[in-house]
Amino acid sequence: MKITIRLIVSLLLVAAGVAFVFTYLQVQSEREILLREFDARAGVVGESLEESIAGYFRANAMDRLRRFVDRFGRKAQLIGVAVYDSQGTLLVASRTLSGRLPSTPDQVWECITRSQPVSELIGNTDSAHVAAFPVEVEGRLMGAIFLYQDASYIDARLDAIWRSNFIRLLAQTFLIIVTTIIVVRWSITGPIAQITQWMRGLRTGKSPQLMVVPRGDILAPLTTEVTLMAKSLSQARASAREKARVRVEGESLWTSGRLREHVHVELGGRGLYIVSNREPYMHMNQGSSVECIMPAGGLVTALDPILRSCGGLWIAHGSGTADRETVDERGCIAVPPNEPRYTLRRIFLSKEEEEGYYYGFSNEGIWPLCHITHTRPVFSLNSWIEYQRVNEKFADALLEEIHKEESPLVLIQDYHFALLPLLIKAKRPDARVAIFWHIPWPNPEVFGICPWKQELLFGLLSADLIGFHTQFHCNNFLETVDRFLESKVNWDNFSVERHGQLTLVRPFPISVAPPAVVESKDEITIDASDRKRDILKKLGITSQWLLVGVDRIDYTKGILERFRAIQRFLEKYPEYQGKLTFVELGAPSRTHIKRYHDLMGELEETVDRINWPLQTKNWKPIVFLKAHHTHDIISQFYQAADICMVTSLHDGMNLVAKEFVASRKDMKGVLILSQFAGAAQELRDALVVNPYDVEEMADSIHQALTMNPKEVQERMERLSAVVKERNVYRWAANIVTTLARVRIPKATAAVEQ
Ligand code: F6P
Repeated sequence: MKITIRLIVSLLLVAAGVAFVFTYLQVQSEREILLREFDARAGVVGESLEESIAGYFRANAMDRLRRFVDRFGRKAQLIGVAVYDSQGTLLVASRTLSGRLPSTPDQVWECITRSQPVSELIGNTDSAHVAAFPVEVEGRLMGAIFLYQDASYIDARLDAIWRSNFIRLLAQTFLIIVTTIIVVRWSITGPIAQITQWMRGLRTGKSPQLMVVPRGDILAPLTTEVTLMAKSLSQARASAREKARVRVEGESLWTSGRLREHVHVELGGRGLYIVSNREPYMHMNQGSSVECIMPAGGLVTALDPILRSCGGLWIAHGSGTADRETVDERGCIAVPPNEPRYTLRRIFLSKEEEEGYYYGFSNEGIWPLCHITHTRPVFSLNSWIEYQRVNEKFADALLEEIHKEESPLVLIQDYHFALLPLLIKAKRPDARVAIFWHIPWPNPEVFGICPWKQELLFGLLSADLIGFHTQFHCNNFLETVDRFLESKVNWDNFSVERHGQLTLVRPFPISVAPPAVVESKDEITIDASDRKRDILKKLGITSQWLLVGVDRIDYTKGILERFRAIQRFLEKYPEYQGKLTFVELGAPSRTHIKRYHDLMGELEETVDRINWPLQTKNWKPIVFLKAHHTHDIISQFYQAADICMVTSLHDGMNLVAKEFVASRKDMKGVLILSQFAGAAQELRDALVVNPYDVEEMADSIHQALTMNPKEVQERMERLSAVVKERNVYRWAANIVTTLARVRIPKATAAVEQ
């Protein structure tokens, strides 16, 4: 039997049963009420008759009694009256009763015997109410009065109740059937049919991302699990394809699987530890629920795939509003939440610590110091003290984690932890420590303005390996060391020797996971122009061309310059007005710092000033979407855009440029890239621009829009080849290999007990 019929029949049986029981109880109670009414009326009539009839008895006037009884018996609802003597013998009865009375009714016998009124409802159809009352003269029982009333009214009322309840049941039944069919179709059979189709799609190798996710909250948990399974399946397929490809390509390509194997061999059973300020997964309170998000920024984009692949422990600042509630007593949580692959240990900071270490020293001091964007660094003693304190706090946590581990590999991330290598090596000289500096390193003159430059350099030079994105930043660093510290800088092999510690300084250009392999054009089932149409429709915009920018909102990213370039382009090439829209996906960042807060206002004001004179009902030049956008949303924009603009004024690498390339499986789209982003060293097929030159940027937008489609495709193919080959797995493999093979002096290679 189909589920719908089974459901309907069960609901009907239950509804009918409930209706029957309730109607039966209602009928019983109504019957009793009506019976009581009859009893009361019979009581009143009986009492009024008793006195007159007693008088006739006393006077022995049987003829008058007969006439009286006849007359009385014609009253409404009263079928008749009869009078019996004390022996139960009928004395008189109204004519209307002739043929209805048994010789002596039971009720009369009972009344005479007990000398008490007796009443009862008789008959199954055409019910009648009968009542007998004793007649006494001077305390002596003389006989009984028998009243016979028409009670068919009770039957009619009770029938009416059964009838109306039956009609109600019919109506309910109809509604139940209709509702059940709708609910079952909408929430169960429909989604199941979708899931079936969806799973068939998976089995036949269609990409899960391209299929419509089945609706229906009943099936939500199942859908989530199946989605994960689908992802794993497609990852397994992709990795199998990759393996085959790697074999064919002479094992030149780095993949997640190859990195896992490689790290396993290099580590030889030792653990891999990552320390960063930003955590890869943040738990945030959203109303009454908790949401897990991946923060914006290149560091997380690059490192999460590595730990997913190799496992290990990641120590980071727990800055999400619901982070404390989601970890165990050690501050640990297994991540990613849906398919745990590694452990995240969160370090919680006080307001003062966060203010001084993160906002103050790191982001108002070192950040503008290292990015040449003409924002003055601010250094304060308090911030410096908090910076040292927080570095110690992270060092304590890491030392606790590596307590029992011999020669663990520690990868420290970024400018927040310049002192950490020193703090770790002081206690654990056997640990192999690398620090990767994700931002540019300035020349010695610029770095020299930092009041604590030597302390920062001491801290960094305790590491066995220091990584930058480019050789240029390595050179700046070595020159800085040369200028400010007593040490031996080896320019022939890019290293520094100081107090017996050797530190290698190497470029490792960071990247993203490689683009998924596309076997055939049929795999790209959604065309870029369809995606573009959908996106613009959602934004309420009609436009032929879509340009996109994706950033943390930061003054180093050149967002204002980009807006001005759009404005200049529309002035210079007015035929594009109404036909080109630039969408900026900006994730608010560090807004607690005045410079960032002001930047936000400045950006909004600029967008408004550019849009206002040009915009129409359905079009505007710039759409500024300020929010934390998920990777999925960002990917939709990347895949729909005609142009992606990365116009950083200064940037260590900039992974947006690489993410855009990685997402263009269709080999369409043009990348406009700042010459001041590290990515420009590798992505030579982008249109490389100077973000300070608004004319050049406007012209490169024009060049991109008018570029021959063949050239667009060829450039994108070359860019994809670079991103595919120099992917993040290769980055990680190079760092791990270099670190694992660093020579650590024997005397210091001991585990602290
Ligand atoms: O680009 C430098 C960097 O520190 C990255 O390493 C990181 O992803 C990004 O800035 C994010 O900054 P924050 O963590 O301050 O939001």
